Amino acid sequence: MAQSNRDGFTSSFGVLVATLGSAVGLGNIWKFPFLTGTNGGAGFLLVYLAATMLVGLPVMMVETMLGRTARANAVTTFEVVAPPGQGCWKGIGWMGFSAALLIMAFYSEVAGWIYSYVFKSLSGEIATVDPKAAATAFAGLVSDPVSSLVWQWVVLCVTGGIITLGVSKGIEAVARKLMPLLFVLLLVLCGRSLTLPGAMRGLSFLFEPDFSKITSGVVLTAFGLAFFKLSLGMGTMLTYGSYFQGDQNIPATTTRVMLADLSVSLLAGVAIFPAVFAFGFEPAAGPSLVFMIIPAVFTSMPGGALFMAVFFVLTAVASIGAMLSLLEVPVAILSERYGMGRKRASALTIVCIAVLGVPASLSQSLAAKFTIFGLNSFDLFDFLSSNILLPLGGILICLFVGWVYGLPELEKRLSNEGTLENRRLIRVVFFLVRYVAPLSIAIVLLNGLKLI
Ligand code: PFF
Repeated sequence: MAQSNRDGFTSSFGVLVATLGSAVGLGNIWKFPFLTGTNGGAGFLLVYLAATMLVGLPVMMVETMLGRTARANAVTTFEVVAPPGQGCWKGIGWMGFSAALLIMAFYSEVAGWIYSYVFKSLSGEIATVDPKAAATAFAGLVSDPVSSLVWQWVVLCVTGGIITLGVSKGIEAVARKLMPLLFVLLLVLCGRSLTLPGAMRGLSFLFEPDFSKITSGVVLTAFGLAFFKLSLGMGTMLTYGSYFQGDQNIPATTTRVMLADLSVSLLAGVAIFPAVFAFGFEPAAGPSLVFMIIPAVFTSMPGGALFMAVFFVLTAVASIGAMLSLLEVPVAILSERYGMGRKRASALTIVCIAVLGVPASLSQSLAAKFTIFGLNSFDLFDFLSSNILLPLGGILICLFVGWVYGLPELEKRLSNEGTLENRRLIRVVFFLVRYVAPLSIAIVLLNGLKLI
């Protein structure tokens, strides 16, 4: 990816891989399963699917399109594409800047847990299928302030090191080779999980909706997850779009990314829920769910410890792609608007995340008593970013494209100046972006926050 200049991705396959690298991350392996578990299973999945296809995908298309049109960071893009006198739209970019910092503050903590589980898999510490022992092992990590902080800093140093050494392109090349392996390991996990006694209960939890469980809070969380998963509503896709080539087919690329991302999440769901029920775990365990179930499934397999370590290494690699894309939002803004070198901008951003990350990583130890609206700092950062800032950013981007930017310009840009035969599709996207997406997100947001 273009880390040090603005000359763009080198091939259309490179675009696909980098965009997918941003979307696929801890969201698939950690967040999707735990939120599906705490929000009642299949009903949540259904709303999440609808939100991803009818709202997420069109937002992804227009976000990338805006970035490619302006060839600039998330703030400057709106200065370039907004009509004269409407500079206020650049506020969307600044919201994205804040959301990126908030997300990285807790995301780096979860990545730290993953790193530490690589070592724990090899030491045998987490090799258990017993729910109580698994919960104790996880609690041992998160309730220890020193290890929580140290692992978070390791993640930040690794991310910072990759940028300082200028090896992001190399890392992406490695990730490109390793990600198919993660997919294969997930398939193996699914095979094991589905052959456990009682596995069917997990499948019905995941695929047989109980509509009574779909409350307004569940719908808001599903919408938030759709945005988080596809890295939308905060300028990440916009910034990546600014590196796209002029002849890249945006609707086709974004659709492929969405489908691939969804497949990884569904696979993770099928790997996890049958085992949850087979081993007698609690599906609504929350953020610790994956850290208990993945070790349990591997432990029940021959050679499990080694496979488990490989699995956590691959998940750590996946988290790096997402972290680099999150970091790209503030770094592009700081370097392009304030003339800061990319390395200095990255270092400054990483220091900010380290500071903001302290309450998040201590949220289950020293800062556990520190709550706002009943949420500890970790949950608060997650809620504020995923359930408020990203959907709000999504509404504003839709309103901008649907009501200010307009159909003729959208048609020109998404059809690559008329060279692609996709007029009808663009009209559907325009309708979704002008009416369906902003209205549905607004209702979901107001309802979910109990404001209507
Ligand atoms: N999509 C990433 C994941 O699911 O792990 C997380 C993420 C990356 C969210 C980049 C937002 C973002 F801008």
